[in-house]
Amino acid sequence: MKQIKLSKRLLTVASLVRNGSVVADIGTDHAYIPIYLVQNGISKRAIATDINEGPILRARQNIIENGLRDKIACYVASGLDGIEPQEPTDITICGMGGELIAKIIDASSYIRNDGVNLILQPMTSALELREYLQNGFEIYNEKVVFEDGKYYQIICARYDGKPRKYTSVELEMGKINIESGEKIFLDFLEYTILKKKKILKGLIAGNCNTEKIEAEIRELEALR
Ligand SMILES: C[S@@+](CC[C@H](N)C(=O)[O-])C[C@H]1O[C@@H](n2cnc3c(N)ncnc32)[C@H](O)[C@@H]1O
Repeated sequence: MKQIKLSKRLLTVASLVRNGSVVADIGTDHAYIPIYLVQNGISKRAIATDINEGPILRARQNIIENGLRDKIACYVASGLDGIEPQEPTDITICGMGGELIAKIIDASSYIRNDGVNLILQPMTSALELREYLQNGFEIYNEKVVFEDGKYYQIICARYDGKPRKYTSVELEMGKINIESGEKIFLDFLEYTILKKKKILKGLIAGNCNTEKIEAEIRELEALR
């Protein structure tokens, strides 16, 4: 058995999973998250699912190599299909677009049960994911991670049925991130402003309307 070493992104995801949890990792691919969590005694058992056969073969191989066949159930499934009997307490959905993550959440009534925590790591469209979460989910923690030249957002949420309304910068950058004032967030903020300024330049060069992006830049700059 070899000890799984996670990347910074996945390690931060794992750090947000509760001690003593039963974790379900949706879109598991290599099953690194569940293997790490069970190996380190953070999760009692785990469920690793993926919509595609290839990743599940890879996941199964890794689970067997790590001697965790009796602790990690592994199968092909779309989203949270068939998850109820496994009764996960913590659900990780990582490395997909925010819109797909929102679709997966929307299709599951299990996710709305009391005591179920979601740890979400959208590769793109964090704004759209937060927009979706406004409809009944409390965002109780957020993190920004920088790895291999890229920024990643991690969003922890749980269902409480209450609607919320975030501002446009809160949707894009995360209210908890903004309030944290952490250095990593401030770096991410500067990176985002710079990215938008590049887009603005392109719009000016193409004689396009720049009102929207200029307003976005102003709102982001006000967070400095
Ligand atoms: C880029 S990988 C991310 C792997 C891992 N979660 C990570 O963050 O490193 C995305 C995985 O999600 C799976 N996937 C895509 N849509 C899915 C769905 N609706 N339900 C379950 N898995 C899905 C893909 O097959 C793929 O293996």
